[in-house]
Amino acid sequence: MAIELPHHRPQWKTHIGFLLAAIGSAIGLGNIWRFPYLCYKNGGGAFLVPYLVALLVVGIPLMILEIGLGHKMRGSAPTSYARIDKRWEWVGWWQLLFVMFGIMLYYSVIISWCLNFFFFSFNLSWGEDPDSFFFSGFLMKSGSPFQIGDVRTPILFAVAAVWFLSWFIVFLGVEKGLERANKFFMPLLFVLVGILVFWSVRLPGAGEGVGVYLRPDFHRLKEVGVWVDAFSQIFFTLSLGFGIMIAYASYLPRKSEIVRDSVIICLTNCLFSIFVGFGVFAVLGYMAGKTSQPVDQVVTKGIGLAFVAFPKAISLLPSFARIFGMLFFASLVVAGLSSAVSIIEAFTCGIVDKFHYSRGAIVSVLCIAGFVGSIIFTTQGGLFWVDIVDHFVNHYGLVLAGLLECVILGWVYKTSRLREHIEHASSTKISWWWDYAVKVVIPIVLIFLLVNSIIEELSAPYEGYPVLSLVLLGRDWLVVTLFLAVLISMRSWKAAPEEPS
Ligand code: PFF
Repeated sequence: MAIELPHHRPQWKTHIGFLLAAIGSAIGLGNIWRFPYLCYKNGGGAFLVPYLVALLVVGIPLMILEIGLGHKMRGSAPTSYARIDKRWEWVGWWQLLFVMFGIMLYYSVIISWCLNFFFFSFNLSWGEDPDSFFFSGFLMKSGSPFQIGDVRTPILFAVAAVWFLSWFIVFLGVEKGLERANKFFMPLLFVLVGILVFWSVRLPGAGEGVGVYLRPDFHRLKEVGVWVDAFSQIFFTLSLGFGIMIAYASYLPRKSEIVRDSVIICLTNCLFSIFVGFGVFAVLGYMAGKTSQPVDQVVTKGIGLAFVAFPKAISLLPSFARIFGMLFFASLVVAGLSSAVSIIEAFTCGIVDKFHYSRGAIVSVLCIAGFVGSIIFTTQGGLFWVDIVDHFVNHYGLVLAGLLECVILGWVYKTSRLREHIEHASSTKISWWWDYAVKVVIPIVLIFLLVNSIIEELSAPYEGYPVLSLVLLGRDWLVVTLFLAVLISMRSWKAAPEEPS
């Protein structure tokens, strides 16, 4: 019996609409907030070496794999896996549950911090001491993950706004919602970031900062941690491993340039990160000069970069500081939103495919559930929760999802069948290297990352947090989503899934 997908499958109206939506998913908070910090932490420009290796070895091959799979199976992640073999459907559900109720819950909260800071920029509310302003005044951070304290109302309201906006965009559908929104968001983001970077590199002292960014410390490449950071960042930044690109590709027309598009999406995303890095380091250089400190003293932790170091630097700007602040935080909000909608869309696509419920109802229920789930991250203990969940998502979730994807596609389904489809649909041939990467190289790299993370985890609790909090928010989260995924996959389809001809 053939799989009975809903009669009308949405389609991207234009090719550029698809590209912008996929780039919009990839470019997110991770590019502006996390990448420059990782560079900074891992030997400046030297980090670009493992980053580019990770892009070539894992990023591009997996992007081709996900887009090829979604295009071939014309379905969400669970549909695609079910069409390979019903026994693997749970993998698709697990990816969707994990990204929706793992990443999205805290991701929406970080966007909401950015939204608040956008308004704080109007009168530089962080004052002389952005550190105390952020941690004590704004987050009112408690002493441990178990001291949840009160919900922070400014954060709660902004999170509600983020969920509402995301709901609105996804509710309107693929063409009228996602495509249109990204056609507006992406050019806007490029203009905002373009202005910021050109502004920053002309500041006095900017050269110092850019020097730190580009002056590679190659000794650092001997450290395993630097490579682990590069590979996890590639997964996160390209939105790989969570069925997002699979869902987006399922809305493509039959004739599509899968390989070319994959390369365009990956390169645009990574060049964007590298470009943003110039602006971030230029600002740090300026601030270092102003405060007579070395550049490497002006910033501490990841979150501190956007919400402490940057506000500090913005206040020191010679002119138009408020506008600079607004542009910076607006960029983060726009980048974050275009990624957030892709997560909600991937999940919606999965449920519509299997259960044929109305799209509007699913999006509404999902967004309400997501909002309620986010509330815990808006409390005084929220920062700990963000940090712990983010750690587990990056070190285990992404890696495990990628590994399962490679094993199923490489060994169960066989890459040669997918390659045939991709080459048939597009005008580009794929190099032999792709099969080899998916079947052998990527799984080896991912197993290595996984083992390394487990060893580190066992040697000392992450950031010295109570072990129970790590077990509950990390390991148990993986187990609960896995269990739910298996349960959903056991529900019957309207008709048994079958590979489309
Ligand atoms: N790629 C986005 C970023 O770099 O911020 C985040 C993201 C979106 C991660 C979607 C994972 C995902 F499935």
